[in-house]
Amino acid sequence: MLRMIALTITVMFVSAGLALAVSPGKVLEFKNSSMGTVKFDGAVHKKATANCKDCHNDGMFPKMKQGTVKITMEQIYAGKLCGVCHNGKKAFEAKANCQRCHIPAKK
Ligand code: HEC
Ligand code: HEC
Ligand code: HEC
Repeated sequence: MLRMIALTITVMFVSAGLALAVSPGKVLEFKNSSMGTVKFDGAVHKKATANCKDCHNDGMFPKMKQGTVKITMEQIYAGKLCGVCHNGKKAFEAKANCQRCHIPAKK
């Protein structure tokens, strides 16, 4: 019994450690838009933001898993999701800087 508990706790710690290791050191690629792939650099955002909860909260990206939230420009322009910061105040404005996020597909 005790060993089972110890094992469970170990597994919990290991998975927490893995989860923590992912986003900040990783670049997520969002490839659904015709404007071109969006690269989201975890390291840049870790430096630029105070806390995982700045993004991983109920109103934005609740899950630490890619593909759980559908991101549209309408929402970004309305100040939601990436647009919470990319509004020209906390970070560069989305409307004026398409290609700082979207990398045009090569022809
Ligand atoms: C600036 C916003 C932002 C911050 C800050 C942020 N994340 Fe994320 N993270 C995201 C977005 C966006 C996704 C993709 C969510 C989706 O597609 O539904 C994501 C996904 C993840 C994933 C899943 C990656 C994958 O390959 O599926 C992990 C793990 C993660 N974040 C961990 C963290 C941790 C730990 C922190 C704090 C150190 C953190 N994130 C801070 C925006 C952020
Ligand atoms: C919590 C605030 C916040 C959120 C949310 C956020 N960003 Fe950022 N982002 C920043 C800041 C701050 C910078 C760096 C300052 C700047 O370049 O204006 C930055 C920089 C970037 C850069 C430039 C990276 C580089 O290499 O210089 C890209 C691309 C980017 N963000 C994409 C995104 C995308 C895509 C999302 C949504 C999935 C997102 N960001 C959500 C704050 C945020
Ligand atoms: C802060 C980063 C960022 C900037 C700046 C940005 N986008 Fe996006 N855009 C995204 C993300 C993230 C997605 C979702 C991509 C996905 O799901 O694969 C997206 C999706 C889209 C889509 C497909 C979904 C939809 O809403 O129709 C289009 C079209 C688009 N962007 C056009 C633009 C144009 C035009 C500009 C400049 C005026 C722009 N984007 C600037 C991050 C950005």
